[in-house]
Amino acid sequence: MGVDGEDHQTTELDMDKIPEHVAIIMDGNGRWATRQHLPRVAGHKAGMESVKKVAIAASDLGVKVLTLYAFSTENWKRPTSEVSYLMKLPIRFFNTFVPDLVAHNVRVMVMGHIDELPAGTQKAVNQAIADTKDCDGMVLNFALNYGGRDELVGAVKALGQDIQDGKLAPESIDEQAISAHLMTAPLGKLADPDLMIRTSGEERISNFLLWQIAYSELVFVDQSWPDFDGESLKAAISVFQHRHRRFGGLVNK
Ligand code: IPE
Ligand code: IPE
Ligand code: MG
Repeated sequence: MGVDGEDHQTTELDMDKIPEHVAIIMDGNGRWATRQHLPRVAGHKAGMESVKKVAIAASDLGVKVLTLYAFSTENWKRPTSEVSYLMKLPIRFFNTFVPDLVAHNVRVMVMGHIDELPAGTQKAVNQAIADTKDCDGMVLNFALNYGGRDELVGAVKALGQDIQDGKLAPESIDEQAISAHLMTAPLGKLADPDLMIRTSGEERISNFLLWQIAYSELVFVDQSWPDFDGESLKAAISVFQHRHRRFGGLVNK
C-alpha cells in the first residue's frame, strides 16, 4: 500500500511500537532525475541528501538498525559512467556526514563485497566504520555490492567447509546456523527487518535480504527516493503500526 496520500504533517506514531530494524530499497533516483531533464546521476546525488535526512530521522525515532540498499551485485550491469559515479558517492557522503553521525551516536556498518570496490571507496567506508566504532546508538548499515542470493551462496559454502573440516555435522545445520553465516550476523537478534520499505512504486525485492525478510512487513511507496524524507519514514512506520504481525500464529504481535 502506498502512503503518499497521507498527510505527512500529522502522522502520529506509537513510540512504543517503533520497528527496531527498518530496511529500505532506495529506488527511483534515475527516473526522478529524468523527469526533471537531468542526467541520471543527478538523481543519485539528490538521493544522498535523502540518506542523510532519513538516517537522522530514524535515529531520532529510536530505530535500532537502518539498513539501506545502496548498490546491488546486479548494479554492475549499468553503464560504466553511472557505476563509477555511484562508487564515488560513499566517499562524498562519508567525508561530509560522519561528524553528524557521530553527533547522533550512529554507528556505520557495511555489508557486501567491499573488497571488489575501488580503493578510494573502500578507504572511505573503512574510515567511516572506524570513526563511528564507539557510537552505540542506531546502526546505519549500508548494503554495498550486496546480493541476497550471493549472500546465501556464501553461507552454504562456509557451512560446506565446516562440514569438510569436521567442525559441523550436516544434521546439526539449523536456522540459527544459517543466520550465523549471513552478512547480517553481526546484528544478532536485530538481523531480520521488522519493516522493509521500497520507494519508486516498484513492488519487488530485487535480491535484497531474501532470508531475513521471511516475516518483515513490506511497505511500497510511490515517492522516488530523492523525494523521501523523515516525514515519509514516519508515514511508512505508521502503516507498519497498523499491520497485524502473526508470524504464522493466531495472536497479533
Ligand atoms: C536507485 O535508483 C539507486 C540504485 C539502484 C543505485 P535507480 O538508479 O535504480 O533509479 P531508477 O529505478 O532507474 O529510477
Ligand atoms: C535495487 O534497485 C537496488 C538498489 C536500490 C541498490 P534496482 O533499480 O537495481 O532494481 P531493479 O533493477 O529495478 O529490480
Ligand atoms: Mg531502480
